[in-house]
Amino acid sequence: MMTANEIRDSYKKFFESKGHVIVPSAPMVIKDDPTLMFTNAGMNQWKDIILGTKQPEPRRRTDSQKCLRVSGKHNDLEEVGHDTYHHTMFEMLGNWSFGDYFKEGAIDYAWEYLVDVLHLNPEDLYVTVFEGSPEENIPRDNEAASYWAKHLPQDHIIDGNKHDNFWEMGDTGPCGPCSEIHVDSRPAEEKAKVPGRELVNKDDPQVIEIWNIVFMQFNRKSDGTLQPLPMHVIDTGMGFERLVRMLQGKHSNYDTDIFQPIIKRIEQLSGKRYGFTTPTGSNGECANGQEKTDVAMRVVADHLRAVAFSIADGQLPSNAKAGYVIRRILRRAVRYAYTFLDQKSAFMFKLMPVLVQEMGQAYPELLAQQELIGRVMKEEEDSFLRTLEKGINLLNGDMDELKAHAQTQLDGASAFRLFDTYGFPLDLTELICRENGYTVDEQGFNKEMAKQKARARNAAVVENGDWQVLREGEQEFVGYDYTEYECHILRYRRVTQKKNTFYEVVLDHTPFYGEMGGQVGDTGVLVSENETVEITDTKRENSQSIHIISRLPQDPSADFMACVDIDKRNASAANHTATHLLDYALKQVLGDHVEQKGSYVDADTLRFDFSHFQKVTDEELRQVERMVNGMIRQDFAMEEHRDTPMEEAREMGAVAVFGEKYGDKVRVVRFGPSCEFCGGIHAKSTGRIGFFKIVSESSVAAGVRRIEALTGKACEEALYRVEDTLNEVRALFNNAKDLQGVIRKYIDDNDEMRREIERFRAQKVEQLKDQLVAAATTVNGVKVVRAVLPIDAASAKDLVFKVRQEITENLLCVVGSVADGKPMLSLMLSEDLVNDHGLNAGKMVREAAKLIQGGGGGQPHYAQAGGKNADGLSAAIDKIVELANL
Ligand code: ALA
Repeated sequence: MMTANEIRDSYKKFFESKGHVIVPSAPMVIKDDPTLMFTNAGMNQWKDIILGTKQPEPRRRTDSQKCLRVSGKHNDLEEVGHDTYHHTMFEMLGNWSFGDYFKEGAIDYAWEYLVDVLHLNPEDLYVTVFEGSPEENIPRDNEAASYWAKHLPQDHIIDGNKHDNFWEMGDTGPCGPCSEIHVDSRPAEEKAKVPGRELVNKDDPQVIEIWNIVFMQFNRKSDGTLQPLPMHVIDTGMGFERLVRMLQGKHSNYDTDIFQPIIKRIEQLSGKRYGFTTPTGSNGECANGQEKTDVAMRVVADHLRAVAFSIADGQLPSNAKAGYVIRRILRRAVRYAYTFLDQKSAFMFKLMPVLVQEMGQAYPELLAQQELIGRVMKEEEDSFLRTLEKGINLLNGDMDELKAHAQTQLDGASAFRLFDTYGFPLDLTELICRENGYTVDEQGFNKEMAKQKARARNAAVVENGDWQVLREGEQEFVGYDYTEYECHILRYRRVTQKKNTFYEVVLDHTPFYGEMGGQVGDTGVLVSENETVEITDTKRENSQSIHIISRLPQDPSADFMACVDIDKRNASAANHTATHLLDYALKQVLGDHVEQKGSYVDADTLRFDFSHFQKVTDEELRQVERMVNGMIRQDFAMEEHRDTPMEEAREMGAVAVFGEKYGDKVRVVRFGPSCEFCGGIHAKSTGRIGFFKIVSESSVAAGVRRIEALTGKACEEALYRVEDTLNEVRALFNNAKDLQGVIRKYIDDNDEMRREIERFRAQKVEQLKDQLVAAATTVNGVKVVRAVLPIDAASAKDLVFKVRQEITENLLCVVGSVADGKPMLSLMLSEDLVNDHGLNAGKMVREAAKLIQGGGGGQPHYAQAGGKNADGLSAAIDKIVELANL
């Protein structure tokens, strides 16, 4: 039996033998495409080639791509775990032809690989072809059907609708009809009963799609119309995990050698067994209730991979965008482990060693960052478990309320609050309620959910118009060599975002750097003979600089000069170079485990996030600063190597960032000993940074620290601020020469005075105590001590305690005090009045405090209350004596 690794290799080798170049997987987390957060198909990284904006050589390629389908158009999250063949993260084997072979070639290769190389039985294979769409004016795909007919009988070729047989990357972008290959892996007797063709695309766990061959022919525009592509493209995607399952003769992807080691470890850690009963129902359910445990194990095994690979690609769980998606996946796993595997403390992070053992070889980014990933996971798990506990407490409270009112149903709004604030999905709330004999108003919950969705929709409408093309062609970036350049507008589009309208413009030549790799985009102007238009920002999208302008030039087809704001650019360039030096110095001072985990650089400041497992000490920070400033003074000139082959760059010792997308050729930037893969804009030499100063060091997540720093002019200004503050302080001390000595003495004098005041206060309280004790009256054997005094609350407290030391039994001592116009009641009762007479100082004070317009409380023998109305103190004291009922 072939192992998973052998199967992956055999696919790539087969297509290599057919003239395809084997290329690496792109990162799973996408950083420069606002329309997509995660790679959800092998073709994502070729979008520009398919749309014709990037050259297509080599025209035949093949790879295995890490994909994540958890958001947007392709979202399988809720299915995962419940069946045995959907995943969040999965590997997609793909082969591409960019304007080379088309339908016939793709179909023949697929057939040859499955039948001749892998020896699948042709009788088990079914294919689908697009039935056509009259409203889109696309006929049935007779062409694909006729090529399949070379290999398969007609009853194995099935027509499919737009949902299954017209593949689209998203709401807009490349698309086309497709043919799917399905495999029927049921036992012979079942095949005899029901023919496989009747189960294709019917959610049968044993008759599933393994390969999708897309015939890319169109670009879907934002107005919904289809535009023919400049060339025909073949884009295929085979689900690796499903293929392995088929070849290893398993019923479930989770029974293959991809998942089994992880599942085994989950069994060991949880003490529960997996696959006790094989799922029998169409949704994978079992007769004995074991399915809940199995589902939970599958969820954890699947989500572990998704979360670990995302963190390895540089995406930490967070509250926004891609980070939030990762957080939700992790929380889903925690919920399942908590509810069905009885894991009440962090659990998933313990599976990292087995994941690394299984996949670390093929994915070195996982191996290298194992410790960081484990720490981040554990912290996320811990924090979500705390939230979960809080939610359960809240739900317990809700159920107590229901009980008190003899009700049996939890209302929708409460269930929704649990969902929204504590991440409780409806089924978890229902489960806990059911266990306690309550039901949940599901309709009410859905109503609240719909309301929230409507709110979110209204908040985030972005309307992109279609690109208006003025000239054909690709953009050339000239910003490494120029800050001004002659140019023309290639295309533009109108964008409306939260009622704001602006334009995005692509130029044929541009010196403008688009925001990327943490460095902000350039600003500047676009000048023609007749007018000047301001460029307020530059973004990066699909390897192009997109210029943001608030109004279109009157003549968009004019000749323009694009001019970058040089001061701003120089300042951010210096900050960027400083982050390289900082990265180098951190590795020297703290160690090689330091990996860049994010950075942000603009004209004013720089921020650098990196893996490190404890606080960086002040001494280490100083060492780093000294090292960076030393490199600045050495004035290393920038050495730039453009279009360097990847291997050569690595040999130069250039540092790469995990999760960044690098092409075959990369740019390497060196300043003295610092050498990095980098596409950013830099200072010409380190001397231009001027000076470097760290202003803060903090934690961003478990195992990730953040340094914020200033350079050059910003340091100068910061230094002036420090100097000004010091001068002001010195002036307060009469410009003393020995400022530290004077302040020290001031503090000592102050301490001495405080002690003196304290002594006076204690003496005064002692005197007052003597006076009060002498003036005590006796009512029915109880000593009543009462007074209104101009003392502060602390003194009043001391006073009543002192009185009790003197009169230990049968004592009611109540003092009204006034300080700064604020009245206060302090009440002390001896223990016997509390124990034998049932008096309670807290209750009495609360009642009496109404007369001073205030409130308070305390213990049964001692309580205090503050208020607003000092005139009511006497009456309040009378009230307390009255309540004592002596
Ligand atoms: N792009 C196609 C898919 O993802 C192959 O199914």
